[in-house]
Amino acid sequence: MTELRFDGRVAIVTGAGGGLGRRHALLLAARGAKVVVNDIGGSVTGDGTDAGPAAAVVTEIRELGGEAIADTSSVATAEGGAALVNAALNTYGRVDILVNNAGILRDTPFHALTPDLLDPVLDVHLRGAFHVTGPAWHAMREQGYGRVVNTTSAAGILGTAGKSNYGAAKAGLVGLTRVLAQEGAQHGIKVNAVAPIAATRMLTHSMGETGGAADRQLAPAAREMMNAITGKLDPALVSPVVAFLAHEDCPVTGETYTAGAGQVARFFTGRTRGYHHSALSAEDVRDHLREIRDETGYTIPADPGEEIAQLLRAIAARPEPADG
Ligand code: NAI
Repeated sequence: MTELRFDGRVAIVTGAGGGLGRRHALLLAARGAKVVVNDIGGSVTGDGTDAGPAAAVVTEIRELGGEAIADTSSVATAEGGAALVNAALNTYGRVDILVNNAGILRDTPFHALTPDLLDPVLDVHLRGAFHVTGPAWHAMREQGYGRVVNTTSAAGILGTAGKSNYGAAKAGLVGLTRVLAQEGAQHGIKVNAVAPIAATRMLTHSMGETGGAADRQLAPAAREMMNAITGKLDPALVSPVVAFLAHEDCPVTGETYTAGAGQVARFFTGRTRGYHHSALSAEDVRDHLREIRDETGYTIPADPGEEIAQLLRAIAARPEPADG
């Protein structure tokens, strides 16, 4: 079995001063990548800064014989993103891998959402990915090679109450992943997403153990289940998925993988076969909802063109339903 190596590759991992990002950085560096360890060193809610966490991970990598530099730019601004990518280019001359991992939480029920709870979350997760991927994209296109791994979340893909800001940002990253996969294809750039499940300070915070309000705590049954598996949720077990998606041998693009406790699976967007009537009425939708929702024979369109083709085929193949 050949080891997946990253010799000669330069990787940026955002939010790598702790949690999942630290593990991603350590693994990539252990496999030969030169790593830019980015982290602003703030709290889980994005308050404050501290150069310590990024520096500590760099020390850890160097002590293990790896190569790394620290960067404390904030991904939440375009200037920060540019400074981060410039740090990689100025020090190592290229950027092959970008792991958009930095994140914060500002959970609140939607009815209590205020700009100070919304904007910073969008800025770090969603705009942050634009801020860093933008300048990295230019370098990747020029060299005809790149791997981008975005960090999404089940909170956005599946939905979690109290996380409208975070969930929307995370689901937005899936859209960004799909679009960039298409734009990157002709330039040797692959873009995928990972939805992690890992015992980090963020998960602890989500479970309401650090000052969480009662309305943002998990339901008792979910909490009991999480407590039972927390010990198995080593963030290091997510990093192999990130590393594979960041490797030259990765054959897929535009996809989302959920990873936690050593399990990896794919999330995908399916389309049911649906129901067609050339003069569709609201009553038709009501009366055929079961057929519309029936998952038998669902498809996974690769892009909107494929979806339209399926629609046209379905119309052509189905006789016009009788009225009513
Ligand atoms: P964490 O809180 O340990 O790590 C996030 C890191 O991002 C922190 O070190 C923080 O300082 C850094 N960061 C925050 N704002 C930044 C900014 N503006 N610029 C640069 N760095 C910044 O949490 P964790 O769990 O390691 O989170 C990593 C990623 O995984 C996040 O994107 C999170 O949303 C995502 N995620 C985590 C899950 C979990 O189960 N732990 C579940 C789903 C998604």
